Amino acid sequence: MRISVIGCGYLGAVHAACMAKLGHEVVGIDVDERRIGDLQAGRAPFFEPGLPELLAEVQATGRLSFSTEMDDAAGAGVHFVCVGTPQRKGEYAADLRYVDAAFASLAAHLRPGDVVVGKSTVPVGTAARLAADLAGTAPEAVLAWNPEFLREGFAVADTLHPDRFVYGVPAGGTGTAAAAALDEVYAAPLADGTPRLVTDYATAELVKTAANSFLATKISFINAMAELCDAAGADVTVLADAIGLDERIGRRFLNAGIGFGGGCLPKDIRAFMARAGELGADQALTFLREVDAINMRRRTRVVEMTRELCGGSLLGKRITVLGAAFKPDSDDVRDSPALSVAAQLQLQGATVTVTDPEALANAKTRFPELTYDPVPETAIAGAHALLLLTEWRQYTSLDPAAVGAQVAERNILDGRNVLDPAAWRAAGWKYKGIGRP
Ligand code: UDX
Repeated sequence: MRISVIGCGYLGAVHAACMAKLGHEVVGIDVDERRIGDLQAGRAPFFEPGLPELLAEVQATGRLSFSTEMDDAAGAGVHFVCVGTPQRKGEYAADLRYVDAAFASLAAHLRPGDVVVGKSTVPVGTAARLAADLAGTAPEAVLAWNPEFLREGFAVADTLHPDRFVYGVPAGGTGTAAAAALDEVYAAPLADGTPRLVTDYATAELVKTAANSFLATKISFINAMAELCDAAGADVTVLADAIGLDERIGRRFLNAGIGFGGGCLPKDIRAFMARAGELGADQALTFLREVDAINMRRRTRVVEMTRELCGGSLLGKRITVLGAAFKPDSDDVRDSPALSVAAQLQLQGATVTVTDPEALANAKTRFPELTYDPVPETAIAGAHALLLLTEWRQYTSLDPAAVGAQVAERNILDGRNVLDPAAWRAAGWKYKGIGRP
């Protein structure tokens, strides 16, 4: 099939490459010339495991091209809209300007029978509004909403082998045609048995925000339990293992720590609350306020724990933060709890050095006042405290004895509960985890 992908960020670039891998002829379009220049040259514009190899593989077939011109979308039968929906400045609501701009400029290039597929995370009701707009500008095209559930760090695998497909389509023949087009696009993963649910627009939009809200709630639940464990002298990691053995609960996403960040969970729960308010259903989501508050409280608590670890004052203390990305295997620092903690420590008088294998360039543009060092050995040298805030494998496998020889004082705060406290204590470290005695 001939496919266009509008927006080549974390979602669109991976989607375009994966659609070409599935055998389709794909053009990826983005207004960012640098990003398109990178992709045309076969370079991934951000760190995502497996993406450079996939780009090289599919570009060699000639099935994948990139362009900054929307004109190049003309001729494709299916158009995926993958642009970002960030949080609006000073508000909880999502900023839909990129979605609206993409639809407005795409409309002029649509032919009868074309299927436009929204993949961006949008407030419920957006698809119906966009469909009504298209009815005026490109009446013979049809809109489907097909939310994306990929995780950064696993984006390629999640796109090629998703847990499920959700198609939001209009009622009647046009909806059936849109679903059939998507079935053709996803023929290979569907043949592998990937479940597929066909629904109305509103349900499809809500599936995405509900899923992210559930995940955020699960993380904040265990972080609330960590607060209680701290107060009661219990161990939240064992608690999570024990409750996670109940299949109804499950162990995944029950890792207590410095909380969730990234370009999705924080802004998605806020946009969901804002939209619920507009719909007069805000009471249904007041619990998400608490989910957000528990999450943000983690960051303040870690700053306080670091102060305690440093003997009651941060003034003049050299602190090394291991990890800047919002999670490992990503260079994404959007709403990264690690960077937020690093910046607060610096503001309170500590001298903070941040190291990360992939995210330093992005971190520098967000927080230029922090010191960055890509080499862990020199970043660690002379530190009064180490903070493991993003669980990259190179940090979780650190040798406590070897690291102990490099620091000024053996204090470590394990913000992701991934180190073995006994091993670190045996090597003479003062170890502090989250919700662990
Ligand atoms: C998320 C959803 O998982 C994905 O389905 C959706 O499409 C986009 O949003 P992503 O933002 O890539 O994906 O990250 P995710 O793996 O969900 O992690 C989010 C944050 O939660 C990270 O900061 C991570 O460190 C944190 N987290 C995750 C925890 O603190 N504890 C956990 O147990 C799991």
